[in-house]
Amino acid sequence: MPLTINGSDHDFAGDPRTTLLDFLRDDCGLTGTKKGCDHGQCGACTVIVNGQRINSCLTLAAMHEGDSVTTIEGFGTPGSLHPLQAAFVKHDGFQCGYCTPGQICSAKAMIDEAKAGWASFVSDDLAGPVTLTSDEIRERMSGNLCRCGAYSNIVDAIAEVLEAAR
Ligand code: FES
Ligand code: FES
Repeated sequence: MPLTINGSDHDFAGDPRTTLLDFLRDDCGLTGTKKGCDHGQCGACTVIVNGQRINSCLTLAAMHEGDSVTTIEGFGTPGSLHPLQAAFVKHDGFQCGYCTPGQICSAKAMIDEAKAGWASFVSDDLAGPVTLTSDEIRERMSGNLCRCGAYSNIVDAIAEVLEAAR
């Protein structure tokens, strides 16, 4: 069963009960995506599938035939960081780093959701357009937990990327 991961062709032919998270980590060697709770509660396993962020622990690999998956390995490289990665470094948006791949994948998709006019629980105007205020960023990133408590720095990093893009 073919799917694309970070622009490369992959084939899934394993146990149909395999989660996308386990397929990425165990079969594809893409261990940047982290397993925190394995129950859809922490966001450490967030990846982007066809442009939308999902918890890869809550979906089966077999459900993604033909899909395009982006993991943290599909962002920048050590010598050429993605702007979100560079901003996380600059603003100390992590301590242990375990949540960081999920935070960055989530932030990228979250910015795109806002651009598309998707309202959040704290949006004043459900019809948009959306301005990603600090409250909006915090609400929209609330599915990604950080046990190190780097939240304020994560918000600062995302805000800087948004500002630079204006
Ligand atoms: Fe998937 Fe926690 S490992 S949400
Ligand atoms: Fe440690 Fe977020 S940096 S859990």
